[in-house]
Amino acid sequence: MTAPEIRQQFLDFFTSKGHHIVPSAPIVVKNDPTLLFTNAGMNQFKDYFLGNRAPAWKRVADTQKCLRVSGKHNDLEEVGIDTYHHTMFEMLGNWSFGDYFKKDAIAWSWELLTDIYKIPKDRLYVTVFEGDANENLPKDEEAYNFWKQHIAEDRILLGNKKDNFWEMGDTGPCGPCSEIHVDCRPDTERAQVDGAKLVNADDPQVIEIWNNVFMQFNRLKDKSLEPLPAQHVDTGMGFERLVRVMQGKSSNYDTDVFSGTIHSTEKLTGHLYGRTDSKQDVAFRVIADHIRAISFTIADGQLPSNTGAGYVIRRILRRAVRYYFSFLGQKKPLLHELVPVLAEQFATVFPELLQQADFVKKVIFEEENNFLRTLDSGIRRLEDIMKANAAKKTIDGPSAFELNDTYGFPFDLTQLIAGENGFSVDEEGFKVALKEQKDRSRAATELDMGDWTVLDDTPATKFIGYDLFGTETHVTKYRKIKAKGKEQYQLVLAQTPFYAESGGQVGDTGLLTFNGESVTVTDTKKENDLIVHFVDKLPTTITGTVIAVIDRDKRQHTALNHSATHLLHAALRQVLGTHVAQKGSLVNASYLRFDFSHFAKVTDEELAKIEDIVNEKIRANIPVMIRELPKEEAMKLGAMALFGEKYGDVVRVVVMDPAYSVELCGGTHITATGELGLFKFTSESAVAAGVRRIEAVTGNNALSFVNDELQQLKEVKATLKNPKELVKTIETLLSDKAALTKQLELIEKDILKQLSASLKEYIEPINGINFLGKIVDVRNADALKQLSANLKNVVDNHVLLLLANISGKASVSLMISDNLVAEKGLDAAKIIKEHVASLIKGGGGGQKSFASASGQEAGQLEQVISQVKAML
Ligand code: ALA
Repeated sequence: MTAPEIRQQFLDFFTSKGHHIVPSAPIVVKNDPTLLFTNAGMNQFKDYFLGNRAPAWKRVADTQKCLRVSGKHNDLEEVGIDTYHHTMFEMLGNWSFGDYFKKDAIAWSWELLTDIYKIPKDRLYVTVFEGDANENLPKDEEAYNFWKQHIAEDRILLGNKKDNFWEMGDTGPCGPCSEIHVDCRPDTERAQVDGAKLVNADDPQVIEIWNNVFMQFNRLKDKSLEPLPAQHVDTGMGFERLVRVMQGKSSNYDTDVFSGTIHSTEKLTGHLYGRTDSKQDVAFRVIADHIRAISFTIADGQLPSNTGAGYVIRRILRRAVRYYFSFLGQKKPLLHELVPVLAEQFATVFPELLQQADFVKKVIFEEENNFLRTLDSGIRRLEDIMKANAAKKTIDGPSAFELNDTYGFPFDLTQLIAGENGFSVDEEGFKVALKEQKDRSRAATELDMGDWTVLDDTPATKFIGYDLFGTETHVTKYRKIKAKGKEQYQLVLAQTPFYAESGGQVGDTGLLTFNGESVTVTDTKKENDLIVHFVDKLPTTITGTVIAVIDRDKRQHTALNHSATHLLHAALRQVLGTHVAQKGSLVNASYLRFDFSHFAKVTDEELAKIEDIVNEKIRANIPVMIRELPKEEAMKLGAMALFGEKYGDVVRVVVMDPAYSVELCGGTHITATGELGLFKFTSESAVAAGVRRIEAVTGNNALSFVNDELQQLKEVKATLKNPKELVKTIETLLSDKAALTKQLELIEKDILKQLSASLKEYIEPINGINFLGKIVDVRNADALKQLSANLKNVVDNHVLLLLANISGKASVSLMISDNLVAEKGLDAAKIIKEHVASLIKGGGGGQKSFASASGQEAGQLEQVISQVKAML
């Protein structure tokens, strides 16, 4: 079976068991401060487990793009070195939200593996949680007994908390789990060593393929476990491992999941995979793995950058570059060439890559190129550092940090190269240096969140702010947080008119009034499905009724800019092409900012055209229609969905003329486009490779912008005495100025010539030297040099010291003929430094035959002459 067939069979099987198939959530996580990337299939269902939201379906299955490169689940170090860990992988999962539990989960996983996939039963082992006294958790007898109905007891192994208690992160849903392992060794080896002994023992041929988690707890910040409102099933099967088992390979990389990119890499580098050099093989695997992580993350909207999720991607990309650079002799960008191969491979399952293949390729190419440039110099620097520390065989923290900071070497790269040369790296020292820098640059941006105090366990907040600006409600939970060193509180309300920041639109601000006491809401954000209100202080009494009212003015202005963003998006696609996709957006009360994929600067003509279209749509006063529709129906209307956004089965569609703009959007909007009045661009620029940024204003802000510009124009005209043809007048002024400057230069040259002729008479002989020391009246230091140069050819054995007071500052130049430099050892730079600079309270330098200085003390020029003279 091919990989796509194996994937399909999984989904079909769970469909037959009453599961609803959902799409993979984006790999980049939004609205969850505990995660950067999706690290498990269950992430998108976290709120179902926590009871914050009622699930739309009780049984769900999917294949989820996961990335395990940071936080609690991080496999980066193993990737490529072994043959079965990945950065990005597909997790096949089935879920029960308060529906079936251990019995069915176990029975179905067994049925699928043995009846459908026909994996021999005598190659399977399962593990069950043995319990943990410290956590006060018992052995999972239930799971053990259900397994007994399918598999011999000597194949049911007990596992500890590390292996058999699954947690999403430091906090969040968790529970005991039961894993299924497959023994892929040849029969002869299996006869010699019992497979049970190799389970969870890092044997590359005895591997876990499926984890069944029985979600029962929420891990709190204080480390305690709180029972969840209901019991759930959360399973995850490693798709790449399953394919490998099904295709009878001994490595994930030998399957059709990876063969396309490996084959392309062979063609591009001229090396072959799986032949001789083990380091080369590692490089092949690293590339085949990392290109997936990089491509899908970029396709889901995360560009490589210097912070957060973007930095993780940059690190992965650089790790891959470093491997092909060092082990495949490839000095030119390579990874981007693999994007089309992947895009085709995943065209039906994750089409977002194919749809943006050119863009993703371009972004990766630029990153590779930039890194290759610094890599070369970084490697040389690292070699120097190793040479200097040859005795100790250690690279100290500050050096590792320097490599990171100056040469863009991620720490793991330094460690890798150092390790290959028998060096160790002081990781602690590196961390200290890194921390010092972090502390310096962004003092305490870290977020410290307390646990929620729950007053009322109604599920997630109901948002009523599309229709209402105020309501009566009550607090359901609250907690203290510390952000940027500042203490704040977060409140969740039973229902709220406050819009939580999303889709680029800023969160609402406003007031919460508790029994006459008001607290200000400074921001509103989403945390998974919760709408979280930020306040600086808690009211005296938090229970009871709250009157929640938003700042209407701010909301209305924000709505203008949000609707304008939709008009702009459509106009951009009309004028520039349908490759334009939103890559970022900010909508607030003052302006809008829109980032989008496009490979060239947007020309003035294009901008004018786009602005015209938007203003035309404003004048047409198109009603803004908002409807909730099943996703399929919305897509049939031609709705624009954004890459990297998670949409439910029912979506909100914002329409401004069905033939012009139809977007999936949860934001707040105006009622008709005429309310915008006017739309004006304020800037167009580049943000990253292949991403442009437009900023614009609307309504009153647009009017003020235009008025300001007009006012400036008026002032310019008045200054020029209101000429009839303004531009022509300015052009004439500029060309006149240029002509005058040219003339002035000629005249100055002439004056300097005359001046140098007249200077000759001041030359006085000192010890066989023709010395000239003279203060002259010139406009700039260059003129001093020019004067010396004129004299140089007509006076031999010269020491020419010319000085000037230029706008109150001392300027000095000193020229010495080459023969004096050679014969008498005179050195203009030295004289300037030792005898001149301090006298004029300044600095200077140059060569032996010419040097100059400038300083504050123009009154000391005579003194300089006497000093140099005395010295000579
Ligand atoms: N959430 C479980 C895991 O990731 C299934 O292993």
